[in-house]
Amino acid sequence: MSDDSIPQLRGYDDASLDRAFASLTADLERGAGSLNGADAVEQFRLEWLGRKHGRLKTVSEAWLKTAPPEARRPLGQRFNGLKERIEALLTDAAAGKHRAATGAAIDVTLPGTRPQLGAEHPIVRTWHEAVRIFAAMGYSVGTGPEVETDYYNFESLNFPPNHPARDTQDTLVVVGQERKPLRDRLLMRTHTSPVQIRTMEQQPPPIRLVIPGKVHRNDAADATHSPIFHQVEGLCVDEGITFGDLKGTLDHAMKAFFGSSVKTRFFPSFFPFTEPSADVQISCIFCGGKGCRKCKHSGWIELLGCGMVDPAIFGFVRQKQPAYDPEKISGFAFGMGLDRIAMMKYGISDIGLLFSGDVRFLEQFA
Ligand code: DAH
Repeated sequence: MSDDSIPQLRGYDDASLDRAFASLTADLERGAGSLNGADAVEQFRLEWLGRKHGRLKTVSEAWLKTAPPEARRPLGQRFNGLKERIEALLTDAAAGKHRAATGAAIDVTLPGTRPQLGAEHPIVRTWHEAVRIFAAMGYSVGTGPEVETDYYNFESLNFPPNHPARDTQDTLVVVGQERKPLRDRLLMRTHTSPVQIRTMEQQPPPIRLVIPGKVHRNDAADATHSPIFHQVEGLCVDEGITFGDLKGTLDHAMKAFFGSSVKTRFFPSFFPFTEPSADVQISCIFCGGKGCRKCKHSGWIELLGCGMVDPAIFGFVRQKQPAYDPEKISGFAFGMGLDRIAMMKYGISDIGLLFSGDVRFLEQFA
């Protein structure tokens, strides 16, 4: 059978097949090179893939059907290769790539589109800074779940059931937990402290760890409160850790955060999981300690809670990690609000701005 839409096949040897298919491919590429518009693409498709008169159909009728058995394979492979190439060209043409390649759609002399640069959110920036400061003192970074059990958020931190200290945490609870034992009930973690317990259960001492993360409380939103906020927890446990280590560590961290002229002082406080406990104040970074509106004329700003890990905490952990023997080891812990630190560092007066997603606010940090 002969048809002048395809070249003549002189034989079924490799060289003849190659010559015939090279000629077809050259035709194909030439045709694809001048496609402009959907009609031309459809025309091209019919010319090659049309069921009745397409060139592939003709090739199959003229060459494949009459091929001797040993030529079927080499012929079929070349046939399939050609078909794939046609389909690829059609896909490109449909996507408009072809026109771009010939220069019609892209004018390279036009100015480019400059991509907008992203910027770290002030909370993320403060988060990274806290991690960097403690990493430089050999601390590693831990994480834990935001949906937590009563056991890790409270009980293992020495908040017994019905203890009044639970009330200070304004807990948001997950619905439908009443049938479970209290310790398994789910809630939104109110602090990052539960990750202290989770981590100690997983690894023996020594530990030096910071835990940045999101926490939740049932607080009404105002300029200084948000139901979602962020904390960085710290934990250091080893043989012979003292309150002096705690003071030195936090004094250094506050100077790294706010500048070397900042002073710290420690006040007695109470947390169920530390004994003794302390609140840490820093000299007012706005007035240098002279007294101003920001520090309510006291010269000091309260920034974080801390203390020596209560031996009762090691008692809970020892159920899984016997190495936490309070006779042999001791440790300190601390927790600070990242949002407050970010607000002080960057002069942000309303915590709500941190969660508003307002680009006019955020682009100031770019
Ligand atoms: N978890 C406490 C809170 O959210 C903060 C805190 C205080 C953490 C003392 C500590 C600590 O690790 O030792 O109020």
